Amino acid sequence: MPKAKIGALGCYVPPGVLTNSDLEKMVDTNNRWILERTGISERHIAPAEMATSDLAVNAAREALAQRGIQASELDAIIVCTVTPDMLFPATACLVQHQLGAKGAWGFDLVAACSGFVYGLTTAAQLVASGSHRKVLVIGADTMSRIIDYTDRATCILFGDGAGAMLVEASDDDSAGFIDFLNEIDGAGGAYLNMPAGGSRLPASLETVQKRLHYVHQDGQQVFKYAVRKMYDLCRNLLDKNGIRPQDLALMIPHQANRRIIEATAERLGLGPQQVIVNIDRYGNTTAGTIPLATRDAISEGKLKKGDLVLFAAVGAGYTAGANLWRWAY
Ligand code: UT7
Repeated sequence: MPKAKIGALGCYVPPGVLTNSDLEKMVDTNNRWILERTGISERHIAPAEMATSDLAVNAAREALAQRGIQASELDAIIVCTVTPDMLFPATACLVQHQLGAKGAWGFDLVAACSGFVYGLTTAAQLVASGSHRKVLVIGADTMSRIIDYTDRATCILFGDGAGAMLVEASDDDSAGFIDFLNEIDGAGGAYLNMPAGGSRLPASLETVQKRLHYVHQDGQQVFKYAVRKMYDLCRNLLDKNGIRPQDLALMIPHQANRRIIEATAERLGLGPQQVIVNIDRYGNTTAGTIPLATRDAISEGKLKKGDLVLFAAVGAGYTAGANLWRWAY
């Protein structure tokens, strides 16, 4: 059986920046509160004409260029997103068309903040089965389109961005995918969701007037679950594979709140040099956070060939996942 490795990474964030001081002029908040409670200083916001497929295509092109391959060489495209251009067709179809990836099938994966981790797991299985050689996993979200910029409890948290990783077959056993743990707990659905726009509450004048097409969150509930679940999943995955936290070169966690990341790292006994935090510059870009954080890890020289890396995320659903890789380039 071939081994699945990550062979390339591309990222894209739109140029527009929304700072904490911009938000101070929009809602009753302040820079100090946002920084202390979340770690966020600024986030990128897409211009009106740009949708999720555009962010995704830009990230995908960078990954393909880095690897020096054509889109026609892709076997599948997985777009992890909760902000598709439309309910259907899948954003994967729009991306496939824009890239000219004529040999690829694909689908959208809706797992909110855990989307990219689920996407990596899925791609690794497709490749390890021997049926696929090159699968592009894209995490892309234009959260600004579903955020209520009159709700101070949510509008400070999210930003727009995308990242893509090429998962491909490799004969080199010394690097690549090791293992995963994924979970869902649908009891958490009530605490973080976008209530309207689906078959339960189709769009109507009433749903718009009640602001039901925006993210609704019980922040404290989600926070408590995330702190517990991030640790449990990472601990269980490491134990299952006989790996000690000190053996990890890096944990690259979903960036939802600096305090969630620090609590997880502390309980695992990880030092600050073993954890990537870049939420200050991007906020929570949902499925985009892990590739964006990976890019920063590489550019800061913290992730090198042969390093043991742990990706972990918790999000709406609840969804949660972690996977272990030995970095391959
Ligand atoms: O990635 C998807 C998963 N999502 C998450 O992981 C998010 C998890 N939750 C969180 O990150 C945190 O719960 C938040 C950052 C959303 C909120 O932080 P918190 O420490 O849980 O604050 P809180 O909701 O308990 O609110 C504390 C106070 C409240 O005022 P009172 O009732 O104490 O007077 C809020 O009304 O802070 C107030 N508050 C704000 N104040 C200034 C809430 N939002 C703001 C704000 N600026 N933006």
